[in-house]
Amino acid sequence: MKDSGSPGGIPAAAGGSGLTAQAVDAIEDLSGVHPGYRRAHAKGICCRAVFRPNGLAAPFTTAAHLQEQEVEAVVRFSGSSTDPALADLLSPAKGMAVQFSLPDGSITNLVGVTLPVFFARTPESFVDIVRSVHRARAGNLRPLELVKEISAHFTESKASFLALKKLQPPASYAESHYYCIHTYFFVDAEGNKRPVKFEWTPVTGVRALSLEDASQQPDHYLEDELVLRLQDESPVFQLAVIFGEEDDPTDDPTHAWPDERRRIEIGNLHLTEIVDEPDGLLMDPAVVPAGIALSEDPILHFRHSAYGESFRRRREEH
Ligand code: HEM
Repeated sequence: MKDSGSPGGIPAAAGGSGLTAQAVDAIEDLSGVHPGYRRAHAKGICCRAVFRPNGLAAPFTTAAHLQEQEVEAVVRFSGSSTDPALADLLSPAKGMAVQFSLPDGSITNLVGVTLPVFFARTPESFVDIVRSVHRARAGNLRPLELVKEISAHFTESKASFLALKKLQPPASYAESHYYCIHTYFFVDAEGNKRPVKFEWTPVTGVRALSLEDASQQPDHYLEDELVLRLQDESPVFQLAVIFGEEDDPTDDPTHAWPDERRRIEIGNLHLTEIVDEPDGLLMDPAVVPAGIALSEDPILHFRHSAYGESFRRRREEH
């Protein structure tokens, strides 16, 4: 378990050196520094929410928020871009990050996106790919170099890029399906561990816009839509847990498990109202409570320090 290091979830180990700083620098290079904003998923909107677990996860995990007692949560929906001013239509992948408040006063986070897999297998690949994208955009990568870069990471990135290509503009943050991608382990009262992944699905179903309809929307239509929607209703997301089987990789975020894996719905998240972003909000996906363990996925572990570094930089700029 990674300890949050503070009530706000600031990783104690956050530091500005080595690969962590290189990764955050590489992201900054993509669209410049936007002081005070997250280095990725810069644009977002927060809601207050209540999570009501249905007890079906209890035989598999002792995690306090997955028993039968409801808990409060903060949800942040976001566009994936590093630029907080970019129009919603221009950043195709969307994020949904949920911070649960546990009965003992601690927190845990589940961070999802609208893609089922990630494009990099390791932190080193991540840095390499982000730097190549930057050089290609800036016109500093010769065609042969670009081909070399693409083929070096082709196998790991392929599934993610294909999924990205298929993404349609969402009609609403509240009508999108979010995948938390990494493997975690449920740990039961006897200490048995089972590999699991998490997904959020809207109970009213997923709805997309045609490109033509989306292009007629205002730049920030997803935030506007959510604000209006929450005046009239309380959108609900189901939390599903998917159980991995023996040969399913648990350390590879670029690899999806087969569709037929056992899946159970373990609770509902009710969005209640739009709120200003709470001070110190940090959605570190490596902060887990007793009853959930991190897999050995290197990207999951790396996100702990990368998010801490981004948090440190944006806080200092405030
Ligand atoms: C090497 C891998 C990754 C790096 C370096 C990275 C980097 C970052 C950074 C720097 C932030 C801003 C953190 C902050 O200031 O609070 C961020 C936010 C975010 N990332 Fe990643 N990320 C990685 C992988 C992923 C993956 C696999 C997902 C998909 C589940 C993801 C989804 C998100 C979302 C949804 C947010 C917004 C969280 C919020 O609303 O606070 N990231 N990422």
